[in-house]
Amino acid sequence: MNLIKKILVAQTAVVALWAMSAQAATDEAIAERLKPVGEVCVQGQECAAAGGGAAAAAGSAARSGEEIYGKFCTACHGSGLLNAPKSGDSAAWSARADAKGGVDGLLKSAINGLNAMPPKGTCGDCSDDELKGAIKHMSGL
Ligand code: HEC
Repeated sequence: MNLIKKILVAQTAVVALWAMSAQAATDEAIAERLKPVGEVCVQGQECAAAGGGAAAAAGSAARSGEEIYGKFCTACHGSGLLNAPKSGDSAAWSARADAKGGVDGLLKSAINGLNAMPPKGTCGDCSDDELKGAIKHMSGL
């Protein structure tokens, strides 16, 4: 009798440990998925976020607004995710531009981030000009 009880206790402990490790694995997977879209790119290293193995921008030719938009901004601004102003919604964009002092004002919030909008729109290696090009591309301003 006593032995059976011991076995039961041991088994319960094993099940509990298994459940805990399964939970830890899930937490890890969630953390992995929650990583920011654009991880910091170090010059000279492959940068997954830049796609196509492009190196960090420093020293290379500026990318077009369309290119930056397609790689970084479309994730939210394409569909209006998190209430981001949608690409091509000129009414929404001009209202924001009017409130912020034109494209340069919008550029400032893009650089610093604004609420759910991450700094530099996740394009960590974007120059100000590249960000401005992307803003012009989606806003039509
Ligand atoms: C993770 C989602 C996300 C990504 C990626 C993103 N944005 Fe945004 N963006 C937002 C959201 C959300 C807002 C609205 C913020 C608010 O008004 O609270 C916003 C607003 C803006 C605004 C308006 C700021 C203002 O002052 O009204 C600009 C400009 C902007 N984004 C530029 C960019 C550019 C350029 C990129 C790509 C390089 C980009 N965003 C990528 C989510 C994103």
